[in-house]
Amino acid sequence: MSYDFDTVVARRGSGSLKWDLCEEGMLPMWVADMDFPAPPEVINALRQRAGHGIYGYTPVPDSYYAACQGWMQKRHGWDIRREWIVPTPGVLPAISLAVQAYTRPGDKIIIQPPVYHPFRKIIRDNGRQLVENPLKLKGNRYEMDCEHLKNLFDERTRVLILCSPHNPVGRVWSREELQGLVSLCINDDILIIADEIHADLIMAGHGHTPAALVSNEAARHVITCTAASKTFNLAGLSCSNLIIEDNRLRNIYTTLLNSMWIGWPNVFGLAATEAAYTSGEPWLEALLAYLKANYDFLATCLPRSLPGIQVFPLEGTYLAWLDFRSLGMSDDELNERILKKAGVWLDQGSMFGTGGAGFQRINIACPRQVLQEGLKRIVDAFIM
Ligand SMILES: Cc1ncc(COP(=O)(O)O)c(C=O)c1O
Repeated sequence: MSYDFDTVVARRGSGSLKWDLCEEGMLPMWVADMDFPAPPEVINALRQRAGHGIYGYTPVPDSYYAACQGWMQKRHGWDIRREWIVPTPGVLPAISLAVQAYTRPGDKIIIQPPVYHPFRKIIRDNGRQLVENPLKLKGNRYEMDCEHLKNLFDERTRVLILCSPHNPVGRVWSREELQGLVSLCINDDILIIADEIHADLIMAGHGHTPAALVSNEAARHVITCTAASKTFNLAGLSCSNLIIEDNRLRNIYTTLLNSMWIGWPNVFGLAATEAAYTSGEPWLEALLAYLKANYDFLATCLPRSLPGIQVFPLEGTYLAWLDFRSLGMSDDELNERILKKAGVWLDQGSMFGTGGAGFQRINIACPRQVLQEGLKRIVDAFIM
């Protein structure tokens, strides 16, 4: 079956955060959702569920767990048991709850900026101390700084939030890199919250390794956030899963989750996730090929038209990281050009914290003609 990623679907006025927050005439290439309809199998499953007409209390069905287990095994070689799966109403709520479950106010939590900005907010909003282990930039490749990390551990340090693959720099961490990180954390009894929401969006030639799989002991120190939401464009359905192998860690988490009565995702999130994990693989393969072609277009076109702009290699996610530093402009000046003059909404690098100034993040999960239009506007804004 072939899938159509070229057709432009009008999203303005459809209740889309990405489009409806954007002034008329502007092109949104910011927040991480895709301008593609979900796979036909998912749309059919939702139609079928909606067509039943009764949406009463819905426990998580066996078929849902089986679909999640099947997907993890097939895509990531991870044999998970049904009881390890803890359904949650989204990855950010799941992380915020994990912060509350495993740490106390004033404890230290490490992040590795530039990184997905809500991590910072979750830590601060929960009254925990933010500690940074900035990524190291070597040429055009980001690495985790394990030497620096060791020095951050003290008696108040409890948790590290790992973004894997890493939004916004596009790295897919290798097994060796993860082994290094995980073994350091195990030595100092630091819990890793592994946000692997982008784990299915891996470019050819790279492979995602679940952090919980890198060693025998890892499972006792890693809890993993997963979802079909980025992969199949279902973010509005608020459905995700934590995978927690360790009984003690899982009990602590589910006690808190149950005390809030939020352990059951909504009925449509369940139906869509199950259909996506059961039948969405051919669509995902086609999507990945399309995204790769979009990335190749971006990586060829932008530096050719605007010499000095660097497009970072995209190993995973559909969020490409662009380096504008050679232009010598401040973030305000860059914003003036890109947002105001070009009328294209990218995410400013500084939003992602330390190391982000002078960079921009572009979402390339859109029909090619939209990407072309966005890039043309950006190029024109700098040369005209
Ligand atoms: C790394 C990462 N984690 C979490 C989220 C949000 O997840 P959710 O919508 O399930 O809360 C995003 C969305 O962009 C993300 O990029």
